[in-house]
Amino acid sequence: MTLIAPSMLAADFLHLEKDVQLVNKHADLFHLDIMDGTFVPNISYGFPIVEAIASIAEKPLDVHLMIVHPEKYVDRFAKLGTQMLSFHLNATDKPAQVLLHIRETGMKAGLVINPDLPVESLYPYLHLCDYIILMSVFAGFGGQKFIEDTYNRIRTLKAEIDRHGLDVKIEVDGGVCPDNAQRLIDAGAEILVAGSAVFKASDPAEVIAAMR
Ligand code: DX5
Ligand code: ZN
Repeated sequence: MTLIAPSMLAADFLHLEKDVQLVNKHADLFHLDIMDGTFVPNISYGFPIVEAIASIAEKPLDVHLMIVHPEKYVDRFAKLGTQMLSFHLNATDKPAQVLLHIRETGMKAGLVINPDLPVESLYPYLHLCDYIILMSVFAGFGGQKFIEDTYNRIRTLKAEIDRHGLDVKIEVDGGVCPDNAQRLIDAGAEILVAGSAVFKASDPAEVIAAMR
């Protein structure tokens, strides 16, 4: 079953509760983008917002760290009730240790790569991952255009996962919408992140239904 993970970066922060309830009712995960202004050239939001969302969330939190030194914040996100925590492969020189640390806290561990890193760079770590996020835009901003090469990247990664009989889900993040959802699923994606497609729509519930 495909999971739909609306990215709260595109939510209406003046009426955040409304958008949290929309995800509770219609979607499967809360995708939370944490940006530090250093790993990516943008700053999003931090713990107060994540805590507020967590306090009324009825679906798991899927936290996507776009920060340097992700290892510093693993325990803090675990304490907030995060179920899935991911970081970028090139944000640390000890990815294996960080993945193990995440799993030790009981969270699912994910590794993320931007479109300019080869999927092969993930292979040494796949056995330590519960999921991989393939960025289909360059991390840092919502509302960017989907990069078409993503379908090939999903297929290549999926084949490697299957070849080793691993249980690693593929999540796709960036420019995902009802028009490309089916092709992404056919290629092997199991979790679809969508920010603007959902929250900038006049009927977000309808967009989520269309993606399903
Ligand atoms: C980009 C973030 C994405 C983003 C997706 O750095 O990781 O999660 O919010 O937004 P859309 O769906 O608008 O591309
Ligand atoms: Zn994201």
